[in-house]
Amino acid sequence: MEVLNGTAKKRLAFQKTFSQEHGGWRRKTLIGDAKFETVANKEFQKQERRLSKADSFCAEEGFAPGLLPDAFPDDYLAFNVLVTLREGLVSLAKVIRVFENGKIFITHIESRKSRSEKEQHQLFMQLVCPHNAYENVCCAARQSPLIRDVTLLEEKEPEKKDHWIPLHISDLDRCTHLITKFEPDLDYDHPGFADKNYRLRRKEIADIAFDYKHGQKIPTVEYTDEENATWQHVYVRLKELFPTHACKEHIQVFATLEEECGFCEQRIPQLEDVSNFLKRKTGFQLRPVAGLLTARDFLASLAFRTFQCTQYVRHGGKPDHSPEPDCIHELLGHVPMLADPKFAQFAQELGLATLGVSDEDIEKFATLFWFTVEFGLCKENGQLKAYGAGSLSSYGELANSLSENVTVKPFDPPTTAVQEYKDDDLQPILFVVESFDDMMVKMRQYVASIERSFDVTYDPYTQSVKILDHNAALEGVAHGLQNDVDTLIHVMNRFNKPV
Ligand SMILES: [Fe+2]
Repeated sequence: MEVLNGTAKKRLAFQKTFSQEHGGWRRKTLIGDAKFETVANKEFQKQERRLSKADSFCAEEGFAPGLLPDAFPDDYLAFNVLVTLREGLVSLAKVIRVFENGKIFITHIESRKSRSEKEQHQLFMQLVCPHNAYENVCCAARQSPLIRDVTLLEEKEPEKKDHWIPLHISDLDRCTHLITKFEPDLDYDHPGFADKNYRLRRKEIADIAFDYKHGQKIPTVEYTDEENATWQHVYVRLKELFPTHACKEHIQVFATLEEECGFCEQRIPQLEDVSNFLKRKTGFQLRPVAGLLTARDFLASLAFRTFQCTQYVRHGGKPDHSPEPDCIHELLGHVPMLADPKFAQFAQELGLATLGVSDEDIEKFATLFWFTVEFGLCKENGQLKAYGAGSLSSYGELANSLSENVTVKPFDPPTTAVQEYKDDDLQPILFVVESFDDMMVKMRQYVASIERSFDVTYDPYTQSVKILDHNAALEGVAHGLQNDVDTLIHVMNRFNKPV
């Protein structure tokens, strides 16, 4: 378990309460995660800025520093206002009552004569109130006949934030930023909410992921008869559709998974066996995850050819529907595609592109992930086929994806990245690529347009990400490239030799 520093703890606590307060957030997709992160982080940074502004204001204006409200709940905000009172004699007790009503507290107050207009008095106040009441505090106070103006002390422009970047594959042990561990406990609509045994089972399997560290074998899960029956139900139905609806890469790998990796309708394969299969095919590997990671952590893992993979099974009462990713979705949808070399390369480059970018760009990359890796369509001999895991692991989605109910648009990263998506119904809009090569070219052009002060490359020998932000770093890349070119020239010369 990661040890969080003070700021990280505060941020996590803030996000939890922010999430509860904004009950509409349903953290079930990567894009939902990314949108949540963006909003919650902005709110957290605002609060931090308000507090730091208080310190500098006090120093400049000669006020004593305010008392920080440690005792207040995490979803309370502290901020500072300068209150200019009306001319004449004004009762301080009455002014205080203007502010201190309901859940608004005054934690610090000082008065003085206005420096610009000597006949007026000003109050410097630190206020604490619930997050959702903050916007109304100043407006309400300005209505008082005792108060001439209320100034919220201005916020400084946010400083550019450096996001932590995993540099070695073992750093993924720190990518454990789950906001919700297992959804059934939290969501009334979840099929497993009222099923205590299902929730216990989910916790038991989630604990495997919490304890997992890079380099360990993925522990075996003895799936129950009910779980295997759920798998069988989905497996049999989907196999009917694959020949007509799945892309050729998926069909080919799926046959290999049945031949070499124990894929069959009777039982759920073990993640360790599947991970070893992927390592042989493309160097990708699985690591168990307890639930939904933040979009940033999930996408960063792809940079290391690592796929964060759930190990639990959807509720047996609704085998055709899972409100969040489960191992059936991962194994039938993602795994076959990650065993394809071109697709694996695309997935890794998508992951590398997300390292260190802004929250807004993470949201866009999560949307691109959604419309490619989860729900992408491609062309084969002029016909549409599905390559997205969300489609390939759901009978309803797969049938829908090639139906007339869907509006199909050409994949164009700048527009695809801001396309609204649907996570509570069948997809109404999908994007099609001409080929995986075409998808890669367009994505690389898009990535080149994203603002980032450095570039990155992956060293497969050390399983490390290298930051390319100076000339010396480029020399290493050039050296590796020279070796590859030498090998290419050598091989070409050999084959061009007359027999
Ligand atoms: Fe997925």
